Amino acid sequence: MDRRPIGIFDSGLGGLTAARTLEQILPGETMVYFGDSINAPYGTRSRAELLSLATANTEFLLGFGVKAILIACGTVSSNVLDALAQRFPDVPFFGVLDAACRSAAAASRTGRIAVTATEATIRSGAFGARLRALRPDADVFSKPCQSLVETVEQGHFGGDDPVATAAVAQELAPVRAYRPDTLLLACTHFPLLEREIADYMGAEVQLLSVAEETAKALRDYLCAEGRCTDAQQGAHRWFTSGGTEEFARYAALFLGHEIVPEYHRNRPNGPEGGTI
Ligand code: DGL
Repeated sequence: MDRRPIGIFDSGLGGLTAARTLEQILPGETMVYFGDSINAPYGTRSRAELLSLATANTEFLLGFGVKAILIACGTVSSNVLDALAQRFPDVPFFGVLDAACRSAAAASRTGRIAVTATEATIRSGAFGARLRALRPDADVFSKPCQSLVETVEQGHFGGDDPVATAAVAQELAPVRAYRPDTLLLACTHFPLLEREIADYMGAEVQLLSVAEETAKALRDYLCAEGRCTDAQQGAHRWFTSGGTEEFARYAALFLGHEIVPEYHRNRPNGPEGGTI
């Protein structure tokens, strides 16, 4: 049994999709969450910037003695996970690519799989390459939907928000026209729009959340290693580099319970010196 907390980071609210799943499937664990809203969106940043931000986020979480870090961000996972793991060789990192691609490859009946994510994730080509490696007959259609990150960060989600409904229809029109049987939500912000997306895509399209699949993979790993705990050591800690009141309001809406966020501002080194 390993009672140390689990660390989670994202550019903002998106990682809550992993946190909510972990609360459900590992209720004895303690989490330390960091949402780097002040530096969002991550999806329009360069690889060098992403590595600086992810390094600072990792150092912050390691300060709490975490036993593993769930990178609840498709952008970081698809662009700099290997480089990050090289910088921190002793840290068990869980990026959101592997488990989610395995689930999507297995779940698709016809092999018509759509991937929606941030600009940087789609540009990396990582999800498409992994899906095709797992399932050579797959026909993968990838579509950046960067504007949906802002939609969520501005608090437009929840199923009956007209701004969210319109944004989803605009961004996902080509995806619906492609007629996938499986849609992989490869940006962790998107499951906050799950109801809007499900309504728009129709019942015959199955949605998969990369964060949820990865949270389950993390549970399997911890349990297999004998490192799960059912003895929560204290309350979860929730940190944001943005406004704590906003974060509390939006997080409560999504998680279904109140939280008390704390402020933390990373000062990552910029790729060309100075800070980001
Ligand atoms: N939620 C993150 C992802 O999964 C980042 C979104 C963003 O900040 O652009 O890619």
